[in-house]
Amino acid sequence: MRLVLLGPPGAGKGTQARMLEKRLNVPQVASGDLLRAAVRERTALGVEAKSYMDKGALVPDDLVFKLIDERLSRPDAAGGFILDGFPRTVAQAETLAEMLNARGGARLDKVVAIIVPDEEIVKRISGRRTCRNCGAMYHVIYDPPRNQDLCNNCNTELYQRDDDAEDTVRMRLEVYATSTRPLLEHYGRLGLLSEIDGIGSPEEIKERIFRALDRAGKPGKSQ
Ligand code: AP5
Repeated sequence: MRLVLLGPPGAGKGTQARMLEKRLNVPQVASGDLLRAAVRERTALGVEAKSYMDKGALVPDDLVFKLIDERLSRPDAAGGFILDGFPRTVAQAETLAEMLNARGGARLDKVVAIIVPDEEIVKRISGRRTCRNCGAMYHVIYDPPRNQDLCNNCNTELYQRDDDAEDTVRMRLEVYATSTRPLLEHYGRLGLLSEIDGIGSPEEIKERIFRALDRAGKPGKSQ
């Protein structure tokens, strides 16, 4: 299964990708996580990317392509993947199609867009907390950790992302509207897109995604 999850910042792409990867038995490939790892490791790519991420702007394509191409080349992605945060523009979608084609003529199976209104996005992003160690994600109201500010899995401190400040979130929403939303039309034209309502519990949304995969003839059960 080669699946792309689309949606505005904070729509729940990462939450869903982590839930889906267990059932679909393919890895989540999240461009934001790959970029944040490069920033943490202070690689040259990470240092350059950080200045764009801090503003809520898109990181230049050549940097993102390098990370995605390397990640898709790893053996665990040979049988499929769940892309989260990539592609983000029509130009990136075209490059992705070329990257897949170069890997033995592979193609995407499905694109699912999670639709969430802006006011809910602001609530979700402002309450998001992430584990510094294992990357587990929480929400202070919707999915709080058992111990305040500590991860349930590894007891490590939780943090708030630098780009989750209000001004930066506004910028990310603008970038989504101008650069990423046109992808819905692009994938709609290719017959790959399902749009699903992103309001509800994470479990309910996961089931909506599986129904969309079933309708596309891509069963959501683990193989
Ligand atoms: P990235 O990390 O991709 O951020 P994003 O797309 O803005 O998405 P988020 O990670 O903020 O949200 P999400 O949809 O995954 O929601 P989540 O599951 O966390 O990108 C960051 C930056 O990197 C970009 O701004 C850009 O600079 C750069 N970048 C990345 N990819 C790039 C690319 N391809 N090209 C160029 N630049 C790129 O959920 C959010 C919160 O809501 C959590 O607290 C969660 O617990 C909660 N939640 C989830 N689901 C629900 C629910 N159903 N109900 C209630 N709460 C929920």
